[in-house]
Amino acid sequence: MQETSIYQSYKNLKIWSFKIALAVCFLVLLVASFMTNLEKVIHKNNAHKRLEILSVPVTNTESKCECNQQQPSCPLHPQDLKGRLTVMDKVTLTEAETKLERVKKGGFWWPSDCKAIWRVAIIVPYRNRSSQIAPFVFHMHRYLQRQALNYSIYIAEQEGNDPFNKGRVMNVGFVEAQKEGPWDCFAFHDIDMLPEDDRNLYYCASQPRHLAVAASQFHYKLPYYQFFGGAILLTTDQFKTVNGFSNSLWGWGGSDDEMWNRIKVSGMEK
Ligand SMILES: *[C@@H]1O[C@H](CO)[C@@H](O)[C@H](O)[C@H]1NC(C)=O
Ligand SMILES: *[C@@H]1O[C@H](CO)[C@@H](O)[C@H](O)[C@H]1NC(C)=O
Repeated sequence: MQETSIYQSYKNLKIWSFKIALAVCFLVLLVASFMTNLEKVIHKNNAHKRLEILSVPVTNTESKCECNQQQPSCPLHPQDLKGRLTVMDKVTLTEAETKLERVKKGGFWWPSDCKAIWRVAIIVPYRNRSSQIAPFVFHMHRYLQRQALNYSIYIAEQEGNDPFNKGRVMNVGFVEAQKEGPWDCFAFHDIDMLPEDDRNLYYCASQPRHLAVAASQFHYKLPYYQFFGGAILLTTDQFKTVNGFSNSLWGWGGSDDEMWNRIKVSGMEK
């Protein structure tokens, strides 16, 4: 079958820049911390080959900023990171709105005292889980702000009664977000994955990155070697190189594994 392009993903889909809603989130992710913890996890799961996360981060020199060019660049490892975080999974819409007053209109945020190194769009494929929106955006805004990123969160929702097509939804998220960008780096992020350690930095690298290497739902291990779900990071170029996600997988599951194959075939695995 001819694979369609990421720009032909539109079908019964609607994008909203994030809006805050409410309530209960049940699956929690521990994302391993950037250095020591992560090495342990990787070692334990013998998954080092595919986890480029340890490769030297690319300092993004192309990121333009509409800020005072005299400002210093933000540090790659900001000092006020907390490490392990408490995840609040019962945040309501009202609470989130009150506490997230620093977010700019449209869900944007960037640091005011330094030039962000990365412009990151968080794309969240979504359907029918409204109770998870408030805990997700509440957690992620605070998390990403501490990392001094220029970011926005996009919730990409599939309408209608067709089976869920997560790949297509994420492709649309990419295209729509880029219209508001440009973004240098994209996180494709499940709504039920909340990072538990803010030292796991959301920047892109020379290879696609898998962030959810140790999720609580899988007892903090990779469920299988090719598992590439939960939360991944690709640069705009990497995403275009693999022609985005498959548009042809309907029903839950599959698109993450398929993305892993695309990355492998394109030679970006190692
Ligand atoms: C942050 O990124 C957005 C999207 O590219 C851009 O519109 C905005 O100007 C950036 N902010 C700064 C301070 O550069
Ligand atoms: C949405 O979720 C409710 C309750 O979990 C379920 O009954 C309904 O069928 C779901 N709708 C769709 C379109 O998946």
